Amino acid sequence: MDIAEQLQKIGQTAREEMSAADSADVLEKLRVHYLGKKGELTSILRGLKDLSREEKREVGGQANKLKTELDRIIEDRREELSSAISIDSSFDFTLPGRPRHYGHRHLVTIVMDQINGIFQRMGFEIADGPDIESDYYNFEALNFPPDHPARDEQDTFYVEGGSLLRTHTSGVQIREFEKRKPPVKIIAPGKVFRNEAVNARSYCVFHQVEGFYVDENVTFGDLKGVLEAFCYEFFQESVQLRFRPSFFPFTEPSAEVDVRCFLCNGKGCSLCKHEGWLEILGCGMIDPEVFKAVGYDSDKVTGYAFGIGVERPALLKHRVNDIRLLFENDIRFIKQFR
Ligand code: PHE
Repeated sequence: MDIAEQLQKIGQTAREEMSAADSADVLEKLRVHYLGKKGELTSILRGLKDLSREEKREVGGQANKLKTELDRIIEDRREELSSAISIDSSFDFTLPGRPRHYGHRHLVTIVMDQINGIFQRMGFEIADGPDIESDYYNFEALNFPPDHPARDEQDTFYVEGGSLLRTHTSGVQIREFEKRKPPVKIIAPGKVFRNEAVNARSYCVFHQVEGFYVDENVTFGDLKGVLEAFCYEFFQESVQLRFRPSFFPFTEPSAEVDVRCFLCNGKGCSLCKHEGWLEILGCGMIDPEVFKAVGYDSDKVTGYAFGIGVERPALLKHRVNDIRLLFENDIRFIKQFR
């Protein structure tokens, strides 16, 4: 066999073996076998010096070409092997997969979105206000007298510099009235804070959805209709409602709405304080003093406002008996509501 034939043969087997190599180890062995110091091709290259000039040129050219080719094949194959996923034969493909835990919205967010959705379908726009509020928007413009007990530190969390954590979402009424002219029909969902005793139905932080509508000839009947429509849609069963006269400095007349307790069917339990009813919202006709503060003409327009708590309707609807569960965020509780 002359050298040219030898080269051809080496080339052929090397190509086959290298492309069949199924691991980096096998590939390395082949590299040593052909291209290492004592490799088959290396010895041919080394023997070239004994050949005539002419042969040297011809065979040398071929041998060098083959060496470059094999180097490249090894390089490429090495890359293929390192990016390939090696399949371990001891792996049991019939094993069930590991469960993945996906995050989801919190029950409070779910319920708040539902409440927003119901009012949006009734034509309310959504507005937003800050959690840290000034005395003006939280109290003064809403007709709270300077000595009103709600301003007491026992009820309100104050922040350095005289600001406070809003105790209700009603301040958004003022912020929006300042920006717009009637008709105004808005809901404002958000967090509120109260420095009061924590128990099964009250927590120091909770959420409200404020709603307000100002236009010509808005009546208490409109307010009642909207709130009843909301409750029937939200609770989706024969919910029993009770409109009870109440007082707020920024509405006149004012009312609170109670829902028959779902947990005890009115018999009395820790959620409803053994009263059989749970208060879920405050409402009323916007006081002319509020219109005065924002420059609306109370001879021309009237309006209603309401503030619905989010957590209590959530507890009633899902029959959860303690508001604290919504804030402790024990994952075993939270994941039951998606
Ligand atoms: N802001 C009142 C509260 O938090 C609720 C309310 C809103 C009452 C709007 C009347 C009108 O208790």
